[in-house]
Amino acid sequence: MFRTPKGTHDVLPEDHQYHTYIKKVVRHRCRQAGYKRIDPPMFEHKGVFQRAIGEHTDVVEKELFTVTGKRDGEGEAREFALRPEFTAGICRSYIEHGMQQLAQPVELYSIGQCFRYDRPQKGRYRQFHQIDLEVIGLRDPSIDAQLIHVITKILSDLRILDRMTLQMNNIGTAENRKAYVEALKDFFIGKERQLPEDDQRRLKTNPLRLLDSKEEDTRILIKNAPKLEQFLDDESKKYHETLLEYLDELGITSVPNPGLVRGLDYYCQTVFEFWDSSTGAQNAVGGGGRYDGLIEILGGKPTPGVGYAGGVERMIWHMKEAGVQAPNKDQVDVFVAQLGPEAKKKCLTLVSELRDLGVHTLGALGEASLKSQMRLADKFEARYTLMLGKLEVKEGTIIVRDMKAGKQKQMALKDAVPEIIKLLGKENLDTYVMRDHVGED
Ligand code: HAM
Repeated sequence: MFRTPKGTHDVLPEDHQYHTYIKKVVRHRCRQAGYKRIDPPMFEHKGVFQRAIGEHTDVVEKELFTVTGKRDGEGEAREFALRPEFTAGICRSYIEHGMQQLAQPVELYSIGQCFRYDRPQKGRYRQFHQIDLEVIGLRDPSIDAQLIHVITKILSDLRILDRMTLQMNNIGTAENRKAYVEALKDFFIGKERQLPEDDQRRLKTNPLRLLDSKEEDTRILIKNAPKLEQFLDDESKKYHETLLEYLDELGITSVPNPGLVRGLDYYCQTVFEFWDSSTGAQNAVGGGGRYDGLIEILGGKPTPGVGYAGGVERMIWHMKEAGVQAPNKDQVDVFVAQLGPEAKKKCLTLVSELRDLGVHTLGALGEASLKSQMRLADKFEARYTLMLGKLEVKEGTIIVRDMKAGKQKQMALKDAVPEIIKLLGKENLDTYVMRDHVGED
């Protein structure tokens, strides 16, 4: 028997209720703030991620799902990678489509699957979903503050904001970090052997990662190491102060976290994460920051940007823990049971008419007895059953049964639809107008 590959899972209908709900909230809050939806492809040229995220990050070094394409004509077969995140692809798209010609900043959001060949564990999967927000083209603390504000609105709508703390740091400019990395390397000269193997490697390839190492030995050593803060220039400090003032103005509290550096290389200045206030960093619900050098690294003109991504599975986990129920829109309103070929024919149009009016309707399917069709209606948890037997066809009547109350009444067939609409209430009908559907999946 086949099963889903390790680190992947089926999104079953019960969980789709949560996915749909989260998407709805994200779309709503993003639209209010002027964000437009973008979907970069699920795979890109591998170089997009290598360049943007950094060769020596875990995401690229260990977790990239690579795909080798076929040879196109004379050239070498291309190396692709499934997207481990959205930022790199969105920035590539910003350049490719000349979005610097648009009014700036360009605000974009995305929702979809990402792939990381990580070691699967709780909250860490090989295929997972992210919501992603990016603001490209302007650099100002008010932009960072507004982005964080939209995210808090989303988390608050999902009723999980009070389970999180917002961890904030400023990691300065690329030059500040370069000077700091040198100082950090100097500090560790002669101490390399006290570091666990993985961190010895990080010291060579990406020393900043030592700051948020989970290894006890590293954490003890880091306590006495020079601090990134000491290397920040005045402008970065001012930027951060102003951002904190703006957040304060918006009623957003945060926890200063000088150890927060994030695992992707493209960041500068502001970095932040939303942590589970009970368990801490291991399962951040989301994180982001400023990436003023990224567009240039990808071949565009120097263009600032800031963004955030949240893990959908982790948000759902929190919603369930907090007892938040996603609305279930898959309920069955009416089950239509019938007996005999004439009744069945009549039921087909009845089912179709009810569905068109926005009533979730099932039934009139098989040849089973009325009794077993009633049992089926029960199993589907239908609220009402309409029964049309041979006798009713002859009389032009139908039986309407309230499944919960266990009561039923007979009425003229032509009255059945208006009766069901009355029982359900017009406001509960599942209807749509095209206006609501354009641009949504
Ligand atoms: P990230 O911190 O790598 O940032 O991922 C953001 C969130 O995605 C994480 O906090 C977590 O909730 C979720 N996540 C990441 N990996 C996994 C996994 N293997 N399984 C389940 N959930 C996971 C980024 O991706 C940046 N692109 C964020 C950003 C946008 N920065 C600027 N713009």
